[in-house]
Amino acid sequence: MTWSELDWASLDAHREQFLGGKPCDGPYWSSEADLASYDLTYGERIGWKWDAVLDELRLRGWRPPAGPLLDWGCGSGVAGRRVVARFGAGTFESLSLWDHSPVAISFARGLAAAQFPGLAVSGATRGELSGSEPIGLLVVSHVLNELPPQALEELRGLVDRSRAVIWTEPGSREISRALGSLRDSWVGKFRVVAPCTHANACPILGPGNERHWCHHFAAPPSAIFADSNWMKFGRRAGIDLRSLPYSFVALDRDWDGESGLSRIIGRPEDFKPYVRLLNCDAGGLEYLSVMKRDSRPLCKELDRATGPLVYRWTRNGANITGASPPHR
Ligand SMILES: C[S@@+](CC[C@H](N)C(=O)[O-])C[C@H]1O[C@@H](n2cnc3c(N)ncnc32)[C@H](O)[C@@H]1O
Repeated sequence: MTWSELDWASLDAHREQFLGGKPCDGPYWSSEADLASYDLTYGERIGWKWDAVLDELRLRGWRPPAGPLLDWGCGSGVAGRRVVARFGAGTFESLSLWDHSPVAISFARGLAAAQFPGLAVSGATRGELSGSEPIGLLVVSHVLNELPPQALEELRGLVDRSRAVIWTEPGSREISRALGSLRDSWVGKFRVVAPCTHANACPILGPGNERHWCHHFAAPPSAIFADSNWMKFGRRAGIDLRSLPYSFVALDRDWDGESGLSRIIGRPEDFKPYVRLLNCDAGGLEYLSVMKRDSRPLCKELDRATGPLVYRWTRNGANITGASPPHR
């Protein structure tokens, strides 16, 4: 698929479907060409979110468990491919792909098999999904608002069989808070690797924090801003390509991470004398400030940061006086 071959009519229809945010009645992919158009555009943008998620997991020193990798609701398969590319095909016993659309499974399988010739890539069967075989890593991407209750239950059953889960979604309030509730239901069975730096109930879902939601911003590759195809796509699709909000949760049954870290929610805000940020850590959710007169380099770093906003603060009350990255 090249930019000149894009099927705009199908992209426009999918855009409507995704924006509608309603559970879907059934498969909507019509052909491999349909999936190829998605994979080059919307799918690639989702890939950039996965790059940010995987950067954060690397920062936290996480590695996937051995065993099979399952990409559920795979669409064109971008999530599974990004994960295999990051950790190496040798890390996984196999890559299994599932979608209620058979053409999606076939398309995703073809791309993954071509990219990772040494890896066993297959479409999952309904029998495998309803079985009890352990899953190493389950990846889920941008499906939550499409799922009727029964499909979500099916997916929860797969989470129960997994050693680790990475689930990435758009950064909208409603979806992020829904993912946060799922996260809370798994704390205890799993350790939370990221974005949380603690295993308490999600403070954003607690009383008084209704206006907040756990979301982050990925940075698209800078080259797209000089690429007329991406610019045209952005205009045509009516999206601001600079803004890539996402939410995610990564869980692992065996994770033993570093304590005492903080995660910034959303983007730090720049005010004249200080930078303000919404901080989440084991103590809960609160606004903290960094005074420019005391910590100008840190203010600059926070203003320009494009990577995961995870720090170990030195604080004086609600004032941050110093910062260091996780040890890894
Ligand atoms: C927005 S697309 C995301 C595709 C891919 N995961 C990604 O991140 O690019 C949602 C995908 O979920 C699939 N899906 C929706 N409901 C499903 C269900 N009940 N069971 C399996 N797959 C489902 C759709 O067919 C579609 O491929």
